[in-house]
Amino acid sequence: MLSRKDNDMLTQVGPGTPMGELFRRFWLPALLEEELPEPDGAPVRLRLLGEDLVAFRDTSGRVGLVDAYCAHRRAGLYYGRNEENGLRCVYHGWKFDVEGRCVDMPSEPHETNYKDRVRLTAYPTAIRGGVVWAYMGPKGTEGPLPEFEWSELPAAQRTATKRLQRCNWAQAVEGGIDSSHISFLHSRREGTDSGPRNPYHQSDRHPVFEVSESEAGLVIAARRNAEPGHYYWRVTQFLLPFYTMIPPVGAFKESSREPYDGHAWVPIDDHTTWTWSFSASPARPYSDQERETRGGRNGFWGPVDEAYLPLLSADNDYGIDREKQRHDNFTGITGIPNQDAAVQESMGAVVDRSKENLGHSDRGIVNFRRLMLRLAKALAAGEVPEAARRGDLYRVRSASVVLPAEVPVETGAAGLLKAAPAAADR
Ligand code: FES
Ligand SMILES: [Fe+2]
Repeated sequence: MLSRKDNDMLTQVGPGTPMGELFRRFWLPALLEEELPEPDGAPVRLRLLGEDLVAFRDTSGRVGLVDAYCAHRRAGLYYGRNEENGLRCVYHGWKFDVEGRCVDMPSEPHETNYKDRVRLTAYPTAIRGGVVWAYMGPKGTEGPLPEFEWSELPAAQRTATKRLQRCNWAQAVEGGIDSSHISFLHSRREGTDSGPRNPYHQSDRHPVFEVSESEAGLVIAARRNAEPGHYYWRVTQFLLPFYTMIPPVGAFKESSREPYDGHAWVPIDDHTTWTWSFSASPARPYSDQERETRGGRNGFWGPVDEAYLPLLSADNDYGIDREKQRHDNFTGITGIPNQDAAVQESMGAVVDRSKENLGHSDRGIVNFRRLMLRLAKALAAGEVPEAARRGDLYRVRSASVVLPAEVPVETGAAGLLKAAPAAADR
């Protein structure tokens, strides 16, 4: 459990909050590149860390990410004209470039230099791995982008997609690092659903956790009994400030270069989150079907509509089918992401952690909260986390592996947990 005060600190992300300021020291996935397909195309509305923003791709192809409201009298710039390297407000015609400079002010007398003194909030952006990244921290403090394997592979070997989640970012992350729920929430009867199965998730439903801190977050290892004298280890990475990497489900005896997936839970505000899903196939290009399954709107992470809103939501009880729940799967809900969303959103937008009763299997979650609160307090005292300055710390993978009981997971899984070196080092 957490005190109310700590729960507030963990979950509040707006400007000036300790956790919000911590997030602002990291590059954040802001949009899919496909949302801004062409220069001078329609601007896109978005909200990040409690701030309303507008993104646009200018005539030169640069991506601007600016305050959603005009610097003059706050009209919505979403309705603006995206023309000749700037976004022009349709109320009185003031025009702003990607850096937030006012480059034209046709409603004011020409002889004043007023326009040179007007600035719109604008955040730096970068494009990598099919994602538009944003840095919302203090001007000039941005470090390198995180060097995720999925963000650096050729387009044929990676996917990225997202879906809206109606709850706070932290309870979504807590679902991502909670290795014990897969034996329940996602369990199903043999032959009742597609996708790989893993026998150990059912044969041992009370995993033993070993959690250690890494330079970029946490390594959360969950141990289940396997064949005599062996353990099955599921090693999840939590990476600052909100990423997780999912251990492969069915590939635990195969090569470490099998495709794998990960998430980012990017706070829109205290009550809503973008759940991003990424995947990487280090060894080979995806087939068309694999691409559709991992990255498509109707694929594994969906289904979602044009605006990336899930079709199964609290509005329709996630399509729960009580017959299916009795006979086929544990929840009666179809699709792992919908099962996750149902329980995470069912807690309320911000779960009251002062009312919990945690067990041994929640160790990863306890460590996650402690780490985030410690780093938020440290930043308030002037200490910037190392991971915000070191993109190379993100070259890691998750792992699933069966090891002889006497082999410690940190040595037995060490090779599997490293991503391939960056192209320049190969
Ligand atoms: S409100 Fe935008 S130009 Fe006046
Ligand atoms: Fe899950």
